[in-house]
Amino acid sequence: MKVKVSRKAHFNAAHRLYRKDWDDSKNTEIFGKCNNPNFHGHNYELVVSVTGEIDAETGFVMDMKVLKDLIKVEIEDYLDHKNLNIEVEEFKSLNPTAENIAVIIWKKLRQHITKAHDLEVVLYETPRNFVTFSG
Ligand code: NI
Repeated sequence: MKVKVSRKAHFNAAHRLYRKDWDDSKNTEIFGKCNNPNFHGHNYELVVSVTGEIDAETGFVMDMKVLKDLIKVEIEDYLDHKNLNIEVEEFKSLNPTAENIAVIIWKKLRQHITKAHDLEVVLYETPRNFVTFSG
């Protein structure tokens, strides 16, 4: 019997979406306001879900305190109040779209979640735009 447990988290970050190999008009055409050369911020909302069997002794799928601390150390401390393009290694050569941020978050968390559990990351860039990655 598998159960999915979820934890919400939040971070603010700045980014710019553009490609160096495209000219200004092409970047504006594709990325619109997100191509602002002066960067802009988003209030990202994150939902991390872990799916697995309920442990017979604890009644937990995963200790939520452990998940909370993991998200704090691996994601919030890493991304909160950062300029993603400039300060986060992964985005020096990768556009910090919500899609790519979700994949990076998933990869960072996956290393710390037991293989017996499935991991899903949902990242809201705005209240209406969100992406899901589960590996
Ligand atoms: Ni943006």
